[in-house]
Amino acid sequence: MVSATSPSPIWTSAEGSMAQATAKTRWPVIVQGMIDDVQQTIDDDSDTRNAKEGLDIIQELQALKENIEGDAALPALPEDGSSDIMGYNAQLASFGPMSWHNCPWLFAECYLYRRVHAIISGAPSWRGYDIFARAKLSSLISSKTAVQELSARYMSLSTVDAFNNNDRSDFAYTIFVEMTQIALWGNATDLSLLTAASPDQLEAIQGRKAIEEGQARIVSNDMADAWTYLSAHAGGAVDIILDNAGFELFTDLLYSLYLIDSGLAGSVRLHVKSMPWFVSDVNPHDIPILVSTLSDPRFFDLNGRVPALAARIQRLLNEGRIVMEEHPFWTTGYDFQCMPAVAPDLLGRLSTSTLVVFKGDLNYRKLVRDATWPYTTPFAEALGPLAGPKGFKILALRTNKADVCVGVDEETVRRLKVQEPGDNWVKNGKYAVISLSVC
Ligand code: F6P
Ligand code: MG
Repeated sequence: MVSATSPSPIWTSAEGSMAQATAKTRWPVIVQGMIDDVQQTIDDDSDTRNAKEGLDIIQELQALKENIEGDAALPALPEDGSSDIMGYNAQLASFGPMSWHNCPWLFAECYLYRRVHAIISGAPSWRGYDIFARAKLSSLISSKTAVQELSARYMSLSTVDAFNNNDRSDFAYTIFVEMTQIALWGNATDLSLLTAASPDQLEAIQGRKAIEEGQARIVSNDMADAWTYLSAHAGGAVDIILDNAGFELFTDLLYSLYLIDSGLAGSVRLHVKSMPWFVSDVNPHDIPILVSTLSDPRFFDLNGRVPALAARIQRLLNEGRIVMEEHPFWTTGYDFQCMPAVAPDLLGRLSTSTLVVFKGDLNYRKLVRDATWPYTTPFAEALGPLAGPKGFKILALRTNKADVCVGVDEETVRRLKVQEPGDNWVKNGKYAVISLSVC
């Protein structure tokens, strides 16, 4: 429930905002990337996808791109029997007439990906096609150096005493900090922002050294409280609401393995998106693809530590200690504060969790309604009904890539204003938050 005093979500018409830049500049580029992908599949002469249907998809995507560039109105989504379409259209109707450059950013961006999914699903031979699969796989392969480095690091760390044996010493805490930071900065490489990053650029943001240096750029940091809380509730089920495939998913699987190996969690449930989403988000097939790629000699040296790590992850998957879950709510246009009304079953499920870890920028935006909160707003306040006894225990690990950010103290906000003119620290992906709500 949104209180009368809580601010409204950011619109794509907000001058100088990331919302505006995304609607005007980034969406057309992203849709062009989809067109290129479908064309490539046609050119590859795939025998499972019909070329004529592929060309029809391209035509529809082209029209969509022109609509965005021309600031056309957002029409209702065609009813195709899917349960979520009704929700999209009800939300759309509740906003009144809107156009791409003048609409709530969060809703319109979800609507965009849902619309693309409807276009693809409308072509029988393309149903189930992941328009981002090619990009997701190539981002993993371009992250080879960091994957190898972090695998070797994990395998050596996991032999020390402080790692296993439910150790809660200071040294065990430093391992927790390192592993949590790896999962945090894994989110710096999402493909919607880094479509053209070279392997060298990726290395510069993914390696261990880069991750250590990143500590100073965590502008709100509840790491110590997260450790205290998890240590006191060790052995339970932890949920991770995943964000991106490729390198970030690798870091999330590493984190899952760590949580279980260290005894902090007894099991981990990984929540994925049910359709291609925000370019790089994890779909169900991305988990087996990642694990098998890690053990594939064409990509990773079989004598290195990567395949050994992949085998450990696979074992936990086989044993059901890491499981994957899907829920249609994650790909609706609703922010997460609508969960009690729209998806009470999911709310019930997450209330049983020791801790629900939300990865990434979009999940964070949905947690805090993508609203124009003052940066100093306490995290729990911005979470509304999700905090407190009717909600669930939340840890957000997010690199900042949008306009919203909360939980930052006044002095830090003042310093960042000088350091990053134009409030760039909320959107350039170089800063991050680790925010906890467990009351
Ligand atoms: O604006 C940046 C953006 O593309 C947003 O659309 C979205 O919130 C986010 O990045 C996706 O990032 P992440 O994968 O971290 O959710
Ligand atoms: Mg994402």
